[in-house]
Amino acid sequence: MTERDFDEIAALALKHTGIVLGRHKANMVYGRIARRLRQTGYRNFADYLEYLKDNFRDESTNFINLITTNLTSFYRESHHFDFLRDTVIPELKKKSDKKVRIWSSGCSIGQEAYTIAFTLAEAHMASAFDVKILATDLDSNVVSTGAEGVYPADSLMSVPDDAVEKFFEKNRTGNQVRVKKSIRDLVHFKRLNLLEGWPMKGKFDVIFCRNVVIYFNRETQKTLFNRYADYLPVGGYLIIGHSESLNGLTDRFKSLGNTIYQKIY
Ligand SMILES: C[S@@+](CC[C@H](N)C(=O)[O-])C[C@H]1O[C@@H](n2cnc3c(N)ncnc32)[C@H](O)[C@@H]1O
Repeated sequence: MTERDFDEIAALALKHTGIVLGRHKANMVYGRIARRLRQTGYRNFADYLEYLKDNFRDESTNFINLITTNLTSFYRESHHFDFLRDTVIPELKKKSDKKVRIWSSGCSIGQEAYTIAFTLAEAHMASAFDVKILATDLDSNVVSTGAEGVYPADSLMSVPDDAVEKFFEKNRTGNQVRVKKSIRDLVHFKRLNLLEGWPMKGKFDVIFCRNVVIYFNRETQKTLFNRYADYLPVGGYLIIGHSESLNGLTDRFKSLGNTIYQKIY
């Protein structure tokens, strides 16, 4: 992979995903695209790039799925779920329309969205309220995995024992688990590119967008955070990842600490 190949790949990634690939990511990009070269039979990066550009409609999904980084886990940054349980849920319980709408944006394989669902179910929200959790990601593979809700058994390491009992079923060999249907039914998975149009009509009570914007430049972050503000009522919450911040990007939220923000206008 020449520097020129890398720059072309980085330019395509930025344009279509918002993901910034600095030169220090060259080894990672090399490994991921080399895999696709082997699958397609192209002998070098330049030929594959030519093919990608000429057949972007057909090949873009494969390319994009290689570019994304999907690291996630159940109960990741668990203080956010404590906040949901202790602060947000008591407020949601007072809603007269009994509608609960939460968005896991950049959901990867769905473990964040399911942790939200577990937290609501534990607070007995699932039956008494009209609960819908939207889980979206750009990568079509992770969206399918999320909708299936099937994971290796060792991904339960971060899940408390009582939640494992309540919310998962094991397969016969015990090496895989599946989120129970009653929980899966609360979560709706969709492919959505955050850079493009959003089809959702209503607002959300809470938006989780954690460990997504770290891959974007400040301009994209600014646009995105202001769009999130449009999708929240005043008082609604935006929860971002531990290394992310709204500082200098939007003044429409106030910080509540722990990368939790509340919309002010
Ligand atoms: C590191 S994962 C974070 C998963 C989860 N939110 C968490 O914190 O555990 C980042 C996700 O953002 C998604 N992503 C990256 N660019 C995106 C875009 N333009 N639109 C939608 N999702 C995107 C990636 O596909 C990836 O699954």
